[in-house]
Amino acid sequence: MTEKQYHSNSQPLNQAAWALTPKAKPFIVKEAPYPSPEANEVVVKNYAVAINPCDYMLQDTAFLDYIPYPNIFGVDVAGEVVEVGSNVTDVTVGQRVIGHAFGMDSTFTRHGGFQHYTALLSSLTCPLPADISFAQGSVVPCALSTAAAGLYQKDDLHLQHPSVNPKPTGKTLLVWGGASSVGSCAIQLAKASGYQVLTTASPQNHKQCLRLGASKVFDYRSESAKDDIVRALSGTDFAGVFDSISKLSTVQICVDIVHALKQDRKVITTNPVPEEVSLHGIEAKAVLAGTIVENEVCEVIYRGFLPEALEKNIFQATPEPLIVGHGLGSVQLALDRVRQGMNAQKAVVTLGASS
Ligand SMILES: NC(=O)c1ccc[n+]([C@@H]2O[C@H](COP(=O)([O-])OP(=O)(O)OC[C@H]3O[C@@H](n4cnc5c(N)ncnc54)[C@H](OP(=O)(O)O)[C@@H]3O)[C@@H](O)[C@H]2O)c1
Repeated sequence: MTEKQYHSNSQPLNQAAWALTPKAKPFIVKEAPYPSPEANEVVVKNYAVAINPCDYMLQDTAFLDYIPYPNIFGVDVAGEVVEVGSNVTDVTVGQRVIGHAFGMDSTFTRHGGFQHYTALLSSLTCPLPADISFAQGSVVPCALSTAAAGLYQKDDLHLQHPSVNPKPTGKTLLVWGGASSVGSCAIQLAKASGYQVLTTASPQNHKQCLRLGASKVFDYRSESAKDDIVRALSGTDFAGVFDSISKLSTVQICVDIVHALKQDRKVITTNPVPEEVSLHGIEAKAVLAGTIVENEVCEVIYRGFLPEALEKNIFQATPEPLIVGHGLGSVQLALDRVRQGMNAQKAVVTLGASS
């Protein structure tokens, strides 16, 4: 699509990568309604969309039964604001932004990310500094919302809020999976909240985790990983565990670590806690990224912290984008790439002329 194609009613022409029916592959690229914004929404012309594991999981299993079809998936976008709703005062037309699109949380196709124009809740957008590309910025929003839900919600780890001038808490958090998208956000948020962070990653990603603010990194494939982490956490003022990966094996080891420390701390997960996990009385609980709009965490992160932290390079847009292709026709290819497993990168598709 070129920059200046319009309907006869003068609304821009929109196209999307459609999921026509549950589990249908590949996505079909065709015309989509232009998403006029509700009062608290902004419309963004997308220049990059990032792919999350939930996108291929939804395509493979149709696990969200409230989603109608045909549908438009996609939760991470970066682009330029082209229209704002009547109640929006803190986002302006022409602004470069990143946004957490509600493609998983909404029954309306205007909220899906895999299209040229997406309607975003203005509260889930953040200005994107000029020195960060749309592709780089697109990796952040959903992973950030997920980490923020786990770290700050009152029923979850309820940590001190992040700041560009953090006040040390003297406490230590374990972030399992520091090289993942969610984990790299969790490390940075916890550091900016005044916590010491221990994390796990493959050896080739240890430097990256340290650069993001972790003070110690453990190889999760090492046979002594659990004992090494318990030893490192013993005697610290322990704040709990955020398991970014949340497979059966990782939830179990995180629970076992808390159990070994004999401290009443939670394990927060990014996927439902598998029934097979032996909990030993430890509380393990899953979070959903979208719940931050229902409480103060959204404002704390997307208004109070992220804009200044991105601008001052205190929060980095990580992991590196892996640009799989250009145009909506590449979205399916990018999902297929994510399905194979990512290694400290996030699959991104660029759109339009300004990526
Ligand atoms: N609840 C929600 O709302 C929500 C939102 C977003 C994501 N999620 C879920 O969160 C999980 C992570 O998503 P993501 O996008 O962050 O994943 P990702 O970036 O694709 O994760 C890839 C990284 O995971 C690391 N990893 C894999 N197995 C590991 C293990 N056993 N221990 C430690 N690290 C391991 C690898 O690190 P190395 O390269 O160092 O080996 C790899 O680089 C997914 O299951 C996703 O579905 C949930």
